[in-house]
Amino acid sequence: MSLLTVEGLSKSFKGLRAVDDVSFEVEQGAILGIIGPNGAGKTTAFNLIAGAIKPDAGTVTLDGKDITGHPPHKIAAAGMARTFQLMRPFYSMDVLQNVTVAVLAGGASEKSARDQAAGIIERIGLSQWRDSPTEGLPTAALKRLELARALAIKPRVLLLDEVLAGLVPAEREPVLGLLEELRTQDGVTLVFVEHIMAAVMRLSDSVLVLNLGQVLTQGSPQEVTSDPRVIEAYLGEEPSA
Ligand SMILES: Nc1ncnc2c1ncn2[C@@H]1O[C@H](COP(=O)(O)OP(=O)(O)O)[C@@H](O)[C@H]1O
Ligand SMILES: [Mg+2]
Repeated sequence: MSLLTVEGLSKSFKGLRAVDDVSFEVEQGAILGIIGPNGAGKTTAFNLIAGAIKPDAGTVTLDGKDITGHPPHKIAAAGMARTFQLMRPFYSMDVLQNVTVAVLAGGASEKSARDQAAGIIERIGLSQWRDSPTEGLPTAALKRLELARALAIKPRVLLLDEVLAGLVPAEREPVLGLLEELRTQDGVTLVFVEHIMAAVMRLSDSVLVLNLGQVLTQGSPQEVTSDPRVIEAYLGEEPSA
């Protein structure tokens, strides 16, 4: 049985079908990449899956439980975390406080939350920023903080929305290594939206292509990137840096 099953997911905004009958499954421990042009519905699909907005139709099943339309905190408690394309830390707090709050939200005790947060910060390579104000952090650090906050709930499934965007190639490498480690060491199941094709090719077991709110195709990275429809809809136009 798949760990995450999305079936017939749909959402319209004032007549625009942002997500239109999208279905896919992800096995435990697998990595699914999602690509598609801007406006294809990738972020909206994440918002629907993680409970930020309610779908017009369709279902989301996590480990056999129907979580469709559940509020984000319940979905997090059920084991699914997500990062936001537009980062949302508490800018009034420092890095350690931000991660501590997320650990507490994940149900940890007051006593252990700070230590757990410090451990996550260390693991994710944020230690040099640990006591820094969040306001004014460089993008690479903010992206890692977003990831640290998602990891704070010890997710079984992690949805990542363009975590590499804004990072220079040298900054991408440690994040990619961390994502691989999350799968191999922690057994975390990953679904990631990404424009950087080298990362999509390297990480994905399978790639789902969205276009105009619909699934254009799904297949292995090689299948998908050699598909003329994908090249026409997406790869032809996008720089694949
Ligand atoms: N809250 C919203 N209200 C109205 N339109 C929206 C909203 N969120 C997304 N959209 C529209 O839905 C479409 C898909 O957007 P999005 O999911 O952000 O695409 P992607 O992440 O693939 O770039 C776009 O046309 C976008 O303008
Ligand atoms: Mg998006």
